[in-house]
Amino acid sequence: MKATSIILASRPAATPGPEHFRMETAEMPALRDNQVMLRVLFLSLDPYMRGRMSAAKSYADPVPVGGVMEGETVCEVIQSQSPSFKGGEIVRAMTGWRSHAVMDAAKVRHVDTHGAPASTALGVLGMPGFTAYGGMKVIGQPKSGETVVVAAASGPVGSLVGQIAKLAGARAVGIAGGKDKCAYVKDELGFDRVIDHRSTSFASELAEACPGGVDVYFENVGGHVWDGVFPLLNTYARVPVCGLIAQYNGPVDSGQDRLPATMSAILRKSLLIRGFINTEFLEHHYGAFQNEIGTLVASGRIKYKEDIVDGLESAPKAFIDMLSGGNFGKLLVSVGR
Ligand SMILES: NC(=O)c1ccc[n+]([C@@H]2O[C@H](COP(=O)([O-])OP(=O)(O)OC[C@H]3O[C@@H](n4cnc5c(N)ncnc54)[C@H](OP(=O)(O)O)[C@@H]3O)[C@@H](O)[C@H]2O)c1
Repeated sequence: MKATSIILASRPAATPGPEHFRMETAEMPALRDNQVMLRVLFLSLDPYMRGRMSAAKSYADPVPVGGVMEGETVCEVIQSQSPSFKGGEIVRAMTGWRSHAVMDAAKVRHVDTHGAPASTALGVLGMPGFTAYGGMKVIGQPKSGETVVVAAASGPVGSLVGQIAKLAGARAVGIAGGKDKCAYVKDELGFDRVIDHRSTSFASELAEACPGGVDVYFENVGGHVWDGVFPLLNTYARVPVCGLIAQYNGPVDSGQDRLPATMSAILRKSLLIRGFINTEFLEHHYGAFQNEIGTLVASGRIKYKEDIVDGLESAPKAFIDMLSGGNFGKLLVSVGR
């Protein structure tokens, strides 16, 4: 049996292009004891994968040139040599960008979505949803009446951040790119206000939407969005630094050294600016996340949107486009047609 994979062909210096990927087909390895053979149904495409394409030092090892692109998938078990899994079961695993995979059973998890579609195990009920939940629970800690701002607000992390803020009784102000995403964030997700970061008057519109300042800024993007939010931060504001997608393809250089002014504001306003990787919260918060958010998704109180592209061969272009806002909702590739 053969499997198709997407390989990292070379490392991009700036924005990735199709030339940095290639497709390969190879024989599957034979199944050994305590292993399962998987058919991939959905591949998750996530911003962190841009970091894995780079050799720069980070919190995780890069994908080697010539290696399969890293990624989490939802799969069907097609053969099992493990007592823990049966053929036909739906599971999730870090198979990478592949059509099929042989995995050690210890690295495979059953999908438990409380009645939601299995694809949600990669989005609102998976890693991105847990990132929003952990960052808000541990660092953001929104309170009733406070103002919470989040960018990339139509995506899987930002959309849940805003809905968690609303559940806590806070005002949710979203930032998104373009009319359609802004309409979705306000009208369907129920944020109080939404600002288009592409507007030429973005900073003044944001200030007008936050008359009492900002108590929690969930940082997903950096760049000019951070410039707009920073002066609005209130005393004791919390800033969970989750992602900086505006600078993943290269540094955003304003030409000024802003560190002294930033440090001064951190001191004067007693700001909490705290970076995190979601895995640090797994041990203490994952069970509660699954129960709380799983129940709210199943009942329809938490809403989510998926952007599903068809075929493994579509993955590189969809991923490249996502880095500049080409996706609308959690980006998935439907692999097993
Ligand atoms: N720390 C962690 O453990 C962790 C885990 C998961 C994700 N993250 C981070 O969380 C962030 C959101 O992830 P996601 O999966 O929910 O992504 P996403 O929203 O599905 O996709 C990324 C979005 O970022 C926005 N964007 C891209 N470039 C931008 C720019 N220059 N300025 C403003 N917005 C820009 C675009 O939305 P618009 O068109 O609306 O601008 C784009 O759709 C990313 O930074 C990601 O790296 C961190």
